[in-house]
Parts: sequence; C-alpha cells; structure tokens
Amino acid sequence: MIARGEVTVPGDKSITHRALLLAALADGRCALRSPLAAADTRATAAALRRLGIAVGRLTEGRVVAVTGGGLHPFRPANGVLDCHNSGTTARLLLGLLAGHGFESRLTGDRSLRRRPMARVTEPLRAMGAAIQAADGERLPIAIHGGPLAPLAWRSPVASAQVKTAVLFAGLVGRVSVSVTEPVISRDHTERLLRLLGVRVTVEGTTTSVEPVESLPAFDGEIPGDMSSAAYLLAAGVLAESGEVVVKNVGINPTRSGFLRALERMGAAVEVGERWVSLGEPGATLVARPAPLSFLVVDPFEIPSMVDEVPLLACLASRAAGTSVFRGVGELRVKESDRLALVAANLVALGVAARTEGDTLIVEGGEAPPRGRVTTAGDHRLAMAFAVLRAIPGAEVELDDARSVAISYPNFFRDLASVLHPS
Ligand code: S3P
Repeated sequence: MIARGEVTVPGDKSITHRALLLAALADGRCALRSPLAAADTRATAAALRRLGIAVGRLTEGRVVAVTGGGLHPFRPANGVLDCHNSGTTARLLLGLLAGHGFESRLTGDRSLRRRPMARVTEPLRAMGAAIQAADGERLPIAIHGGPLAPLAWRSPVASAQVKTAVLFAGLVGRVSVSVTEPVISRDHTERLLRLLGVRVTVEGTTTSVEPVESLPAFDGEIPGDMSSAAYLLAAGVLAESGEVVVKNVGINPTRSGFLRALERMGAAVEVGERWVSLGEPGATLVARPAPLSFLVVDPFEIPSMVDEVPLLACLASRAAGTSVFRGVGELRVKESDRLALVAANLVALGVAARTEGDTLIVEGGEAPPRGRVTTAGDHRLAMAFAVLRAIPGAEVELDDARSVAISYPNFFRDLASVLHPS
C-alpha cells in the first residue's frame, strides 16, 4: 500500500465532553467550535438536555452552543439518564450530580454496565452524596446529591475520569478538593478550569482545585483528537511508501505517549505548524513509512497512551523483536476487555502474543496478518486492527465495524482516503 493524503481529524473526545459539561455550569451562552460529533459525546449532550440545559446539535466541524446556568444548573430529569457506551459521560456526570439536591438515575449499554464505578462512587460518597449502585458497584446507579464536604482523595488508579469527577464535585459543591493519582492522568479538565480563572495547583501527582463563585461563559475551538489521529499516523508508518499528514491534532503531553512510543520504535512523526486552543497545544503531524523495532513500555507511561495500547500492540506485531507492555491491567475495564482481546485477536491473525498478569507481550514478525478479528463492539479494537490492512498481503476481517461511530464516525472514509493500492 501507498499512504498518501491529508486528513483533519475530528474534535477530541475527552475535551468535547469536558467543554460541554463545563459550559453547562458557566454564566451564559458558550460556543464550542469543532466538537466531536459522535455517539459518546452525543450521550453527554443528550444527558445535559434531559437535565434542562440548552445544548445545540453536535455537528462535525460546526459550532455547538450551550447555555450555562451557573454552578447548579440542572433540574431533575424525567426518567433514567442513558450514558450509552460512554464511561466519561457516566463518571463525569456523577461528579456534577453529586452537588445537586435531587435524585438522578444513570444507566448505560451492556459494555458500560460492566465497567467499575466504585472508583468514582467512593470519593463522591465521602463528599456526602447518597449513591446506590447495582451489584459490584456498577450502573445502573441512583445518586442523590446535596451539600458536599471538602475532600483530599487518593485514587488507586491513574484515571482522568476519576480525577475530573472529584474536581467537578468540588466545583458544584463549592469546596476545595484534591486528587492524588499514582501517575498524572490526562489534564484537559485542569487546563479548561485554569482558562476559566479557577485556581488549580499540581504538586507531584496531586491536583488541587479551589472553589469559585461562578464560571464565565467561554468560546473556543476543540483541538483534534490524538487518539483518532493515531490510527492514520500508524497507517502511514506501516505503508510501503508515501506520507500521511494529519492536521489539527492536540499534542498535550499527557496524551501523546503514542508519539513518544513511535519514536522509540524508529518511526518519529514530524511535528509541523504548532498552535494553542482552549489551553491545549496542537500541531500538524506527518508520518512516513519506517522499519519498526520492538517497544518496551513501563507502567508509568501507560496513562499517556492508554487508548492507543491496542494500536501500539498491532504495530508491535510488525516490529523486529519482542515488545512488552507492562502495567496495562486497566485495559481489562475499558469498553471491552481490551487486554484479552488484543492478545486473542493478534493470535487469530497469526501473531505470537500473550498476557502475563498485567503485562502484554507481542512477538514481531513479517508474515502478512490474516484472519478474523472479534471487536466486542469496541471502537478502539475495530480501528486498531483495521490499520493492519495497510500491510501488503494482509487480509484482516472485522466481525463488526459499526462501533467506530462511538468516537470517529468517518474513520473508514478517512483511512481509505490515505491508503492507495501500490
Ligand atoms: C478518558 C480517560 C481515560 C480514557 C477514556 C477517556 C477521559 O479513561 O481511557 O477513553 O476523557 O477522561 P481513564 O481516565 O478511566 O483511564
């Protein structure tokens, strides 16, 4: 395959969720340009509407208007709030609802109902919210918020969703909060809060936020999503010749572990024109074919590339040598059991891959990948394995490709636009 073309990736999923939710708390009308218009962010927009917030239609490349109602903007929803497949929607909303003095009920699809919620319900209960959850502390969940107490929370997992839920509860509860994580997770919330004049301090891995009386209305452009760009860049690396240009990509250091990993594998991505939007650094990125060498990743690096591990494992299957991903246990509780499925799918394609506890081991090779991939409805698995089709002679069949609508509805169009038969 020849990789050639230029793509502008859709808005960042994490930042779109946060911008929508913070806009709901602002004083007045906010205009967000280029939000991600996909199933996950639509779940957040729809939940906000059900809670009484005026949110416009999410359309790719357009502006969405959100009319904020101050720090306690919600009114009780009529019925259950469906977060669909989106863990970010569920966990971040719980943080905001913890400060609202009425009962709300949240649920999600089968995948989301199996994901752990104790990591957010525990700190929110410690602040004073009353929460009832299904068996094993999962969705469906009923939360009755109210006055909240300050909290200094030590999270056992490095999770930006947990951190943000607590920071959001501090905002609506008008109390100081701090979260200590084993490793700093993505800091989009902190950057947005600072932009809105909130005092955020970071010492080591502890993030603290001071209460404010109100948040100003804001406008801004959502940067493109590194997690979506990664697939196109990887296709550029795996192809036989050419170059792939991806414009408008957020390169926040807490999100760009993928680029650092690629560089170590011998496929440095060129960073072109740089810009800053909503407090986030971004750039145009250019990827070119390169022979890959094995990758060893340590646990402290995982949060900065957590959603790219399936893709990096696919790249590792083409690298010279044995790649080792240490400390990837969190992948078990993503939209699917990504750890088990990445290993099983690589094996199905003829690659030697295995897990040992929280470690994933992938032997690189040169035989074209051939076989059928089970995605379990997980968007990141579908996109990661689709990229292997860039390899000459590959025959990679996906059991279901519709899940890309979760985070990147035009993924197959964009991938096809940069891959050309040689
Ligand atoms: C996200 C954080 C990550 C990531 C998810 C989005 C966020 O989850 O996997 O896709 O927007 O905060 P964790 O923070 O739970 O690791």
